[in-house]
Amino acid sequence: MKSLDTNFCSVFGIRYPVVLAGMAGGPSTPELVATISRAGGLGTLGAAYMTPEKIREAIRSIRKLTDAPFAVNLFISQMQTSTVPIERNVQYTLNQMRDDLGLPQKYDTSITITDNFDQQFAVLIEEKVPVISTAFGILSNRYRDQAKAAGVKLIAMATTVEEAILAEKAGCDAVVAQGMEAGGHRGTFDVSDQSMGANVGLFSLLPQIVDHLHIPVLAAGGIMDGRGLVAALALGASGVQMGTKFLTTIESGAHPAYKQALIKAKTEDVVLTTVFSGRPARGIKNRFMEHWEKIGVQPMHFPIQNSLTRDIRDAASAENNTDYMSLWAGQGVGILTQEQYAEEVFLEIVGEANRLL
Ligand SMILES: Cc1cc2nc3c(=O)[nH]c(=O)nc-3n(C[C@H](O)[C@H](O)[C@H](O)COP(=O)(O)O)c2cc1C
Repeated sequence: MKSLDTNFCSVFGIRYPVVLAGMAGGPSTPELVATISRAGGLGTLGAAYMTPEKIREAIRSIRKLTDAPFAVNLFISQMQTSTVPIERNVQYTLNQMRDDLGLPQKYDTSITITDNFDQQFAVLIEEKVPVISTAFGILSNRYRDQAKAAGVKLIAMATTVEEAILAEKAGCDAVVAQGMEAGGHRGTFDVSDQSMGANVGLFSLLPQIVDHLHIPVLAAGGIMDGRGLVAALALGASGVQMGTKFLTTIESGAHPAYKQALIKAKTEDVVLTTVFSGRPARGIKNRFMEHWEKIGVQPMHFPIQNSLTRDIRDAASAENNTDYMSLWAGQGVGILTQEQYAEEVFLEIVGEANRLL
């Protein structure tokens, strides 16, 4: 291991094996994505919660800023369009929070979930994005074949050796090994039993996945600097995927109050929860999580819970109130300092890694 020029770089046509994680919900702005790609990494647009029109706009904005390769990330569809009953205890718990925020109570007994994955995916093919990455599973054959025919490279995120093998067999060009330290949602393929999914530490997971795969493996979870990048390479990774580190950059679209909370947080403040979206995810503990824990009500499945909690999260954002926002963060959060330009952060990471190598 002598250089950062790994097989991931040659397969994806980039200079440094550092991927900006796609971060759904706004942090991975076109400016942040383009900055990382322009600097020689692979920027990823977190497009899971975006409408097809907004995805198209964002892709075009990225292309105005750089000619370099970039990726777009989607969640593998968890539910078809349908109307489902809302559990009374869930609505009751949410209404207590609405009360706290001065929001109107809601008494709806059902909610309609719209699945627009097909339209989102179509935009990625029409716009000829260089790379598509996925969380929560792998593309079905139909989508995989469309992507391959369009010359798109594919990356999937895995939390176990079995998931990583499935991703390789399904034709992925690289796999992200997501350790339990990671911020945001767990990539676990199946959490239909509402479990927390597999939560294996990156130091244990990464070499096991590397040993079973023939394609490049990226390490994700708690990597915050050049030391983490070199450690990942030493364990057999061909690169890293980093989310939390870039949340506090100037180009990040994370809410200013969320950025402040990240800078203040200690590593022991970040915990796993299903209460915001119905799927396990790691973030800074706040009143939203504590309230739910105290009441003890089982949240609904993803993406129902995610839709049900949206008015509360939106109102909290409008009021700069971090008590009720989802504050996704990885266990490396204690390393964050002040806001910096993303290019500076990126060059520090690769500079330090080069020195260590
Ligand atoms: C705010 C935030 C949002 C995230 N959103 C997504 C997402 O939309 N899609 C995805 O594949 N991974 C998402 N992730 C997880 C990342 O892919 C990656 O596994 C994680 O950031 C790695 O851990 P780190 O945050 O400690 O660097 C998100 C992570 C964070 C912190």
